[in-house]
Amino acid sequence: MFDKKIRPRRLRISENIRSLVRENILTEKNLIYPIFVVPGENIREEISDMPGQFHLSVDRAVEVAKKISALGIPAVEIFGLPEYKDEIGSAAWDMSSPVQRAISAIKKSVPELAIVGDVCLCQYTSHGHCGKLCGNYVDNDETLKLLQKVAVSQAESGADIVAPSDMMDGRVSAIRDALDEKNFFNVSIMSYTVKYASAFYGPFRSAADSAPQFGDRKQYQMDFANSREAMKEVELDIEEGADIIMIKPALAYLDIVSKVREKINLPVATYNVSGEYSMVKAAAAKGWIDEKRIVLESLTSMKRAGADIIITYHAPEVAEWLK
Ligand code: PBG
Repeated sequence: MFDKKIRPRRLRISENIRSLVRENILTEKNLIYPIFVVPGENIREEISDMPGQFHLSVDRAVEVAKKISALGIPAVEIFGLPEYKDEIGSAAWDMSSPVQRAISAIKKSVPELAIVGDVCLCQYTSHGHCGKLCGNYVDNDETLKLLQKVAVSQAESGADIVAPSDMMDGRVSAIRDALDEKNFFNVSIMSYTVKYASAFYGPFRSAADSAPQFGDRKQYQMDFANSREAMKEVELDIEEGADIIMIKPALAYLDIVSKVREKINLPVATYNVSGEYSMVKAAAAKGWIDEKRIVLESLTSMKRAGADIIITYHAPEVAEWLK
């Protein structure tokens, strides 16, 4: 029966009425922009699988960081391609690697910008896995010792937040201990708590030259069929001292974002990953979709699902569009 007194369309009648009742508002203030730094100087090369994103030498990364800050975006996350790779990924904690140099250079020239360091080994190991190998198995507890070094080196370079993305068990508490031991009490941990073994990371792996040389990451990243297991990971990371809980990827996992948001009181972040980005760029280049509207709708959906923070390659464009 249609009760003619009740008409939800009344509140959709004009932009200003819609604006009054809008439940979620996307702002650049909740975005983190990922940057890829490479060895060398004066380098700004477009990443072929991620149009609009660049491999940047440290000097050029500083320019980008200044622009990001001027756009009102509060944070960048630094990923790096190292000068050398070895079995254990030692360039990941080398203070002269691009990531460490970029963190300190950006901190120096744009001190107000928050800097997140991605803590992982896959870009640095010759075999492309996220930890130390024991045969074909990634040794969890040995890897923790290496991740501690990576996190401390990033904190020493000036990172405000470290973000472990390796999916080893116990890494949040190991990193917290290592940071506290060096008096980095105020460096936060944004944990890639619920990180699925996902095909959506494809373009990133070619951008970061971090694809595993054998096998895949299913021994440590989560099975995308699982949702209860996500809650177990969240409980563990909270106990271990994580400050921010991340779910990754974003768009295909908004059910998880929503479920986590309902259960916990920590800030929730989600990573709008490379595959999500490149699919939009490819379809937009073909003229099949309206890029701006697709991006604003997708990112707003992430907020609606419950994400406080969105890590996205679209950040600078979004900031421009929202002006
Ligand atoms: C490193 C890492 C990855 C991403 C962020 N950190 C790749 C992976 O796990 O294979 C993916 C980011 C993206 O796809 O945008 N472990």
